[in-house]
Amino acid sequence: MRLKLAIQKTGRLHADSMELLNHCGIEVKNGHNQLMSVAQDFPLEVYFLRDDDIPQYVQDGVADIGIVGENIVYEKCKEVEMVETLGFGKCRLSIAVPRNEEYNSGFLKGKRIATSYPFLCSQYLKKNGIDAEIHEISGSVEIAPGIGLADAICDLVSSGSTLLINGLKEVETVLESEAVLIKKTSLDTEQLELLNRLLFRISAVRTARNNKYVLLNAPNEALPKIFELLPGMKSPTVLPLAEEGWSSVHSVLNEVEFWEKIEALKNAGAQGILVVPIEKMIV
Ligand code: PRP
Ligand code: ZN
Repeated sequence: MRLKLAIQKTGRLHADSMELLNHCGIEVKNGHNQLMSVAQDFPLEVYFLRDDDIPQYVQDGVADIGIVGENIVYEKCKEVEMVETLGFGKCRLSIAVPRNEEYNSGFLKGKRIATSYPFLCSQYLKKNGIDAEIHEISGSVEIAPGIGLADAICDLVSSGSTLLINGLKEVETVLESEAVLIKKTSLDTEQLELLNRLLFRISAVRTARNNKYVLLNAPNEALPKIFELLPGMKSPTVLPLAEEGWSSVHSVLNEVEFWEKIEALKNAGAQGILVVPIEKMIV
């Protein structure tokens, strides 16, 4: 038995999805125009699909699980469960208008908004009591105002360069989104077991990505202060150096507080600080 995973065929999430599998020790060959690939070293079949179709395929059981943006999950309203956020593919669904327009809260009233997210867009308008007209189009939404098809758009913004190139400015955020792992609502025991094995690897990869291994030398009298700064997984490892009165301290630091901690460690007397990326981390 193999677990069937749907990922995006081409586009923003494709490369990161492939890389995640790769870091999980799952090798997937993606031949040109290939629909499906059987993974090496893990009972997994990977299907390459249009991201918009992934929730439907997972709901219908064509795939058991999928990697897709929350934006698509919320737009499509299919019966699937979100299992885990994946930390990549961050973007937002926003309303944008031509850059030279003077925007205010009443601007959208009676206007035409082009979008490929009719559900989320109309939900947003309703919630905010805005009476506007939605024009559903499936691609190249950003050109709609320029060709006179709409007054505004509601589309995904990641770096913002698509808006910039098309002379548009972001004025409202409808939804913040990132890539998530979704699953079919009913998986059998064997499928769940495989999913849990995969989730275990994903969490090890993600934890490792957020942490760095730190090695430093310090005079013994500085150690209490240094221990206070280093949480480590349990407590830091301490090894005596050949030079009397000095120790080597090893620990793990979180990306978020990394620079702040390194500065504090230096001030506390740490020397020769080495920072090493962590390949996998099982806590
Ligand atoms: C989105 C959106 C824009 C672009 C914005 O498309 O439709 O075209 O990304 O990114 P930027 O702010 O970095 O320029 P996406 O890649 O999701 O493709 P799809 O909508 O065709 O699936
Ligand atoms: Zn898409």
